[in-house]
Amino acid sequence: KIPVIIDTDPGIDDLVMLTVALTSELLDVRLITTVAGNQTQDKTYQNALNFVNYLNKDVPVARGLDKPFFNELETAPAFHGESGTGPVEFQNVPLPVYYQPAITVMYNEIMSSEEPITIVTTGPLTNLAALILAHPEVKSNIKRISIMGGAATGGNVVPTAEFNMYTDPDAAAVVFQSGIPIILSSLDVTRQAYLTEGELNQIKEIGTDLAVKLYAMLKFYQEAAMGSPFQEPFFEDVVRLHDLSALAYVINPKLFKGSFYYVTIERTPTLTAGTTIVDYIDTFGMSPNAYVLYEVDRTAIVEMLMEAIHEV
Ligand code: BDR
Ligand code: CA
Repeated sequence: KIPVIIDTDPGIDDLVMLTVALTSELLDVRLITTVAGNQTQDKTYQNALNFVNYLNKDVPVARGLDKPFFNELETAPAFHGESGTGPVEFQNVPLPVYYQPAITVMYNEIMSSEEPITIVTTGPLTNLAALILAHPEVKSNIKRISIMGGAATGGNVVPTAEFNMYTDPDAAAVVFQSGIPIILSSLDVTRQAYLTEGELNQIKEIGTDLAVKLYAMLKFYQEAAMGSPFQEPFFEDVVRLHDLSALAYVINPKLFKGSFYYVTIERTPTLTAGTTIVDYIDTFGMSPNAYVLYEVDRTAIVEMLMEAIHEV
């Protein structure tokens, strides 16, 4: 099994990703850490704890940092609801009184692992950057980081920047400069990993409690995207499963096509802050630091999700 740590900000598509992660026979999910993004840290932490408990899995959840490095936190209630889980409520798990911060738990997990760890991130890169700065020695035992974030050709918060990178560009810069192998599931590929209206209905028809909850959340997410000024014009009635791509790559890289590029992050607080500049014409003459995915087998991703829902 592939040992993974997942850093996430649940978040509707984050919970879809966790459904697949926690049911996959190929993955050994050692730890989930939460980051502030779609909602505040209080909420993403609670949501992750609740969802792991709901699926009855024995995976530790550790609380990450409260805020991006320098930016103010701008959450996304329009897309994920005030709670982060849209219209759906999960039973609240009591919070531990004392806890070890995510960075400490990640450090311990990475350094004590016999096999190098894969990290999957589906939120801003705040926790991971802090970990790398505090404990650079972790780099030697991180196999790769599979990141959902960024866009080579068009964002979703401002015209050029994607939400996770826009939220904490300074953290993203630390991660991209770390030298750890990166696989980037940017919007260019995650926009292709969508559910059609018909497939969304198929989820509801599975009829289990999880299926009905996922359907309700995804419907909310779809409607939010359609009513938003950020609606992406190139697709119609579909739901994009952004975060699932970063995880799906780890489960089955053959579903994707990608190329190695040098990627740098715009940090200057201008209209383009948080842009992932993918140097596909080799302007900077730098060695590649990321494997940037640009194509995905959509049907296979949808199948992966359907199987996971049936597993529960
Ligand atoms: C990303 O932003 C978040 O709202 C989603 O959960 C996903 O991680 C897509 O841009
Ligand atoms: Ca996310």
